[in-house]
Amino acid sequence: MIHNPLSQTKILLGVTGSIAAYKAADLASKLTQSGAQVKVILSDAATKFISPLTFQSVTGQPAYVDADLWGAQAHVLHIGLAHEADLLLIAPATAHTIAKLAQGSADDLLSLTALALGTDEDSAPLLIAPAMDAGMFGHAATQENLRVLVERGAVIIGPEQGHLASGLVAKGRMTEPLEILGHVRYQLSGRGPLRSRKIVVTAGATQEPLDPVRYLSNRASGKQGFALAQAALDAGADVTLISGPTHLLAPVGTNYIQVRSAEEMSAATLQACQTAHALLMAAAVADFRPAQHSNQKIKKSAGLPTIELARNPDILAAVKDQRAKFGHPKVLVGFAAETKDLLANARGKLKAKGLDLIAANDVSAADAGFAVDTNRITLLHADGQQEELPLMSKAEVAAEIIKRIIPLLDKESGS
Ligand code: PMT
Repeated sequence: MIHNPLSQTKILLGVTGSIAAYKAADLASKLTQSGAQVKVILSDAATKFISPLTFQSVTGQPAYVDADLWGAQAHVLHIGLAHEADLLLIAPATAHTIAKLAQGSADDLLSLTALALGTDEDSAPLLIAPAMDAGMFGHAATQENLRVLVERGAVIIGPEQGHLASGLVAKGRMTEPLEILGHVRYQLSGRGPLRSRKIVVTAGATQEPLDPVRYLSNRASGKQGFALAQAALDAGADVTLISGPTHLLAPVGTNYIQVRSAEEMSAATLQACQTAHALLMAAAVADFRPAQHSNQKIKKSAGLPTIELARNPDILAAVKDQRAKFGHPKVLVGFAAETKDLLANARGKLKAKGLDLIAANDVSAADAGFAVDTNRITLLHADGQQEELPLMSKAEVAAEIIKRIIPLLDKESGS
């Protein structure tokens, strides 16, 4: 089962008066779809841009406005909302709201609630996604207010460079809802079973350059590796994600290292593994590279080229050798991408590479392996155990693998 840090959590979403308020509806919807219970507080100015009914409709929960302060439960509303919240997210946050939060000013429902949240170690986290014009964001007063809030433990998300309401293209645009969702997910993941464990994940395909415009590669998209990184983060791990070129967005919270060739991936992986507890090697590393790399584009007019290949380093084998020196990583997990004799080949790789676990991947099936969103794997354990998993999403496959490395790590550390 996928461990979802957002499931059953109570999120309070503060929306303030910016044109980006319309995006907050999408954010509220995404948070709700991710399993969180989302209550919304709109500032007076926010209601000029978007209606509370929009939020009530997408969350199925109340959306409060300042007038509710004077309602029947007025004397407890902000305290109750602050105490039940697992996290307060203010998106979009205007310069005015940021200034009020920094000063501890409490003159409307949102600022009252934010103050009631407290700043103790066990207070719910405060996440702020600013949205304003670039000059306002860059102003010394706003920067100082943000510094004060960060010092008190708040997390500032963005803003991003982009098109602003003023017509400027500059820094001030609210971070996109999907990325804000990633920050919320990361904030809530810290208490999982892999907390204080360092996990290295490799993903995607390597590209082996032939000349400045051509390379040898394969069809790996990075989806399975990125899903593993997300599942490890959700379980509370400290994750380094090393990936070949991909268009995927790295999960928020990963130490993301982008590489191109197998040699670059090897260097980055060996470095990261010196202190890691586990390596999950989902990358499809090119076994061979062109022996010669031309600095100029190879011309068609020069005739048909003969490409001589050189063997690339076997990264898993090198990590296993390095382990003798550093004692890390404790657990090694590989994948075997096969088109025939799946289990025999995977078993051979499990043994030859000294792995604790290998995911045997029949990449000849249309719904599994490279680039698609689903995968079908058989897990082979070092102790001979074999588990055939049904067709699943790559996120589900990742969760199954993470579930199995938890006891392996516990066994290694004797807990
Ligand atoms: O990225 P996606 O589109 O989501 O696709 C996912 C995937 C199909 C790439 C993934 O599930 C997968 O099967 N990855 C392993 C692909 C592969 O290279 O398998 P292999 O059988 O060639 O290698 C066996 C193991 O040795 C792998 O863990 C591989 O990362 C590792 N290896 C391979 C070559 C090399 N030079 N060094 C290595 O460490």
